[in-house]
Amino acid sequence: MCGISAVTGTENVVQILYESIRNLEYRGYDSCGLGVVHNGEVAVRKNVGGVEEVKQREHLTSMRGKAGIAHTRWATHGKVTQVNAHPHCSMDGRISVVHNGIINNYQELRAELRACDVIFESETDTEVLAHLIALAYAESADVEAAFLAAVKRLEGSFAFCMVTSHRPDTIFCAREGSPLVLGLSRQRNFVASDVNAFLQHTRDAVLLEDGEYAVVTPQSAVVRKIADGSRVRRKPIKVEWDAETSRKGGYAHYMLKEIFEQPQTLLNALNVPRSDVERFAGQMHDARQTYLMGVGTTQYVALTGQYFFSQLAGRFVPAVSADEFEGLAVIAPEDLLISISQSGETYDTRRGVAHAKRCGARTASIVNVMGSSLSMMTDSVIMQGSGPEICVVSTKAALAQMVILMRIALELGRRTGHIDSAVYRAHYNDLESFPDIVQISLNERSGFVRNLAERIVSYANCLVLGRGVYYPIALEAALKMKEVTYLHVEGMPAGFLKHGTLALVDDTMLSLLMLPPPRQRELHQQTLSALEEIKARGGPVFGLVFEDDERAKNLLDHYLELPVVSCTVAPFLQLIFAQLLSYFSALKLGRSIDKPRNLAKSVTVG
Ligand code: AGP
Repeated sequence: MCGISAVTGTENVVQILYESIRNLEYRGYDSCGLGVVHNGEVAVRKNVGGVEEVKQREHLTSMRGKAGIAHTRWATHGKVTQVNAHPHCSMDGRISVVHNGIINNYQELRAELRACDVIFESETDTEVLAHLIALAYAESADVEAAFLAAVKRLEGSFAFCMVTSHRPDTIFCAREGSPLVLGLSRQRNFVASDVNAFLQHTRDAVLLEDGEYAVVTPQSAVVRKIADGSRVRRKPIKVEWDAETSRKGGYAHYMLKEIFEQPQTLLNALNVPRSDVERFAGQMHDARQTYLMGVGTTQYVALTGQYFFSQLAGRFVPAVSADEFEGLAVIAPEDLLISISQSGETYDTRRGVAHAKRCGARTASIVNVMGSSLSMMTDSVIMQGSGPEICVVSTKAALAQMVILMRIALELGRRTGHIDSAVYRAHYNDLESFPDIVQISLNERSGFVRNLAERIVSYANCLVLGRGVYYPIALEAALKMKEVTYLHVEGMPAGFLKHGTLALVDDTMLSLLMLPPPRQRELHQQTLSALEEIKARGGPVFGLVFEDDERAKNLLDHYLELPVVSCTVAPFLQLIFAQLLSYFSALKLGRSIDKPRNLAKSVTVG
């Protein structure tokens, strides 16, 4: 969603402020702007376009000021125009705000403000905030009191920051339902949607919780409760990520970097303490029913988990998409919900967890971002340790989550007696030797992936098909492909094809098959049957196959060969190469790979 950032210091902070939203650009990138206090006035420059583009056009870094706010937008209310870009100002121009989230009652507030002769410039929900604060200030002449009075009028989810010429060195910010974190350093203090905004300057962070606001100067940061103004004393945490891991490090795109980082991601997922894995397995063992929940990629991660729990632990653990969770899952107090999220901020997922909590169930989460909302609201957490994932599309984080789910399934399987310790150990051995295999195969086979990608992009429509656990892998492969290439690609169970979709198959509809190792005889045979059905209708079929799969290679029009690996890690290897295939396809088409159109990294609105 939108990225917000604010800095206050004893020197000009504009360059730092500008860099902070460049680091947050993956949160939203249709327009951006800066607002800084200088010589007793608030100056605002903003426009549509990416951060670098707007910087050039509006000469952002020639602005001056010791305190300022900045924003990179993902439009929700109001079209992508210069006036709708943030910051938004009060009519006298002395109060300026940036906002992330949605103010549900903004229409009522607009009507009320119009009745007080307020003239609106933009179509956004955010603008009401600046006017509400200005009106309250006109009555009290107390900035903090006015800020608080305005915040209390808002319904919905928000995180916002304000600067004003009435208090030139101070940032006011508040959080309810959208993330906000303070960064503390000796020369200056920061407020931002996430730590990537200020990691270059400090790793000391204070996480704001819902219902809190903060008043931040270069020397201090005071956190209080919105409800009663009471002081909140919270120790800063040390952010483990360093600024270097957030940089592109010689790769053309973050997506490529993050795909190539996966050997390390796997090691980190395998290094998640065994006690955490045992805790989750124990909770599942004791629960009446466990649900897995994610949305988008994490829903597909949850679906792979569903297969792992059935096969390794003998437990049916439904994976329910977070956007449908409330209406579908029947939750009792004896149940457990495991939610999965890279950002830990996704609105749908948080909503699902809130629902489970209301029903009295236990909640657990697997998340990547320290201090994120989900990590704070669930009863127990596994931090997956994948490091910053900057590309808008998720790659390495998804792989880590799948591996962690497999570890939990193995642990649960041992407890339920579904697998014995020899089988448990064999799976672990496979997982432990996997990072090296990934490293070698990525280095050796990228050229072949590029060749296949060049053929794929000549088709405008593509089906990605798989069976068993390769079905959610196919769904995720299709999602990756559509996100970065904008081609029409749909994932589906290979067995489902003949029940309708086969009608679409002709020589213009490409099918991409995720083939399991031939050792998995039944699954392999079932996948081959789909291949035959498509070929019989004249449809072109490409495949991701393992080297020992002579039967499939003879039938496929084109294929990418993967090294022969154990059945434990085979779906993970297919996933990694499907990610790379999407990357090279998008590269060939000249797409905006790290920031695909219409998307944002964490979707914090409903
Ligand atoms: C990933 O490529 C997608 N952009 C998207 O589906 C994402 O996985 C989903 O929005 C969930 O995000 P989260 O993991 O941060 O909760």
